[in-house]
Amino acid sequence: MKKLFTFILSAALIFSMAACAGSNSSEEQNVQQNNTSSETAVEETEEQEKAEETAQAENVDTQQQGNRTLVAYFSWSGNTEQMAKMIQEETGADLFEISPATAYTDDYNALLDQAQQEQRDNARPEISAEVENWNDYDVVFVGYPDWWNDAPMIIYTFLESYDWSGKTLIPFCTSGGSGFGQSLDSVEESSSGAVMGEGLHVLGDNVAGAQEDINEWISALGLNQ
Ligand SMILES: Cc1cc2nc3c(=O)[nH]c(=O)nc-3n(C[C@H](O)[C@H](O)[C@H](O)COP(=O)(O)O)c2cc1C
Repeated sequence: MKKLFTFILSAALIFSMAACAGSNSSEEQNVQQNNTSSETAVEETEEQEKAEETAQAENVDTQQQGNRTLVAYFSWSGNTEQMAKMIQEETGADLFEISPATAYTDDYNALLDQAQQEQRDNARPEISAEVENWNDYDVVFVGYPDWWNDAPMIIYTFLESYDWSGKTLIPFCTSGGSGFGQSLDSVEESSSGAVMGEGLHVLGDNVAGAQEDINEWISALGLNQ
């Protein structure tokens, strides 16, 4: 009887130990599973953070590219200004108006005489404001109307006011018919150190419908490569 009791007691002990061991190993499994899934979660978060950082860096790059281009223009009756704004819209560049310190007359005939006199005098009419952060720009579009087959003299004031080394100058122009006239050589001469890009001329009357031509010209310049 005593032997039977000892046997039953031992069997119960062995059974409860085995059950205990079983429950331990399933706990270990749970812990292992928990560890594996939290490791995966950490990896996923790290990947997400990396992707966000890359997207942020690309965004900053795009913004910086936009800001490295300037569109500077002089316009008396609005055609060149309109063209400048179309270029700005396509490139995301900054815009700068070359505005005379003393305004030109509103009278067309009087302006014809004044412009001709400025050319004869090789004048350098004063500009009312300076470009901020000039050194930040790599590419500068410079726009003007054709005045007497040349650029208005204020354009030469502008060109001679800045250091052009390392910059690309892209001229654009509106006119009644003569195009750039003889301005391109003088523009190049007055912006010593600049690399001259291919320019675009649009007839004053055609500016409003020129967005497609302007976009094609800008894309052919390959500014973002
Ligand atoms: C003083 C002056 C001189 C001009 N000389 C010429 C010229 O030699 N050839 C030409 O085709 N157009 C000439 N034009 C016309 C302008 O180039 C044209 O109207 C231009 O689109 C005006 O640009 P804006 O509106 O930006 O001032 C002249 C206009 C002015 C006011």
